[in-house]
Amino acid sequence: MLVRLKVFRFDPEKDKEPYYQVYEVEADPMERLLDCLNRIRWEQDSTLSFRWSCGHGVCGSDGMRINGICGLPCQKLVKDFKEEVLIEPLPVFNVIKDLIVDLDPFWERYYSIKPYLISESPPPDRERRQSPEEQHLFEDAIRCILCACCTAACPVNQNEETKDYVGPAALVRAFRYLFDSRDEGTEERIPLLDGKDGAWGCQTLWKCTEVCPKEIPVTKQIGQIKKRLFDAKQKR
Ligand code: SF4
Ligand code: FES
Repeated sequence: MLVRLKVFRFDPEKDKEPYYQVYEVEADPMERLLDCLNRIRWEQDSTLSFRWSCGHGVCGSDGMRINGICGLPCQKLVKDFKEEVLIEPLPVFNVIKDLIVDLDPFWERYYSIKPYLISESPPPDRERRQSPEEQHLFEDAIRCILCACCTAACPVNQNEETKDYVGPAALVRAFRYLFDSRDEGTEERIPLLDGKDGAWGCQTLWKCTEVCPKEIPVTKQIGQIKKRLFDAKQKR
């Protein structure tokens, strides 16, 4: 079938303004939009820039906006798009070129919540053991591939006045450690999360959950962080 893609273009080295370019490619209905973008780049226009790596929803590098919704073109089948497909960079972040955005602010927020296991206890002889029930508490969060789609789709992050909100992706990672029985960093993380730019910045708008390609219950996890913060305050 013939696929028509209307693609956001901007090269700051030569363009004064962004513009849209329309491409047409032949594709099998079971191919992905990423295949179409690659075919454009390989066969029609080598200047078109976008990130991708695994092609299978694992690396999280090809986040973009598809018909206005943040997602991964490697997970979108051509057959599911009938009309012209609008392809744009993720919102919230500055465009470097075409569909490539500057994710430095995303990583800064991510590292701000200490996204690693904190434990002062001496390591046991073998692994730090955990029951299946304990692991079940946070196993959804482990699926996160840090594609940034949730943070880009979040209306709080999109609002200039609240753009310092740490964002759903960082909060999913915070949840992962707050609810990990092996982690001892709760006291260190609580001050990082307990504020308007932390978990309380979430306005429960569900956009993050709607777009997450790994079907992580993002909003629900942020709600559980808020409850953990509230309970900690009650104990003080
Ligand atoms: Fe992507 Fe989902 Fe992780 Fe957000 S929570 S970064 S949308 S995988
Ligand atoms: Fe790796 Fe899409 S290319 S997640």
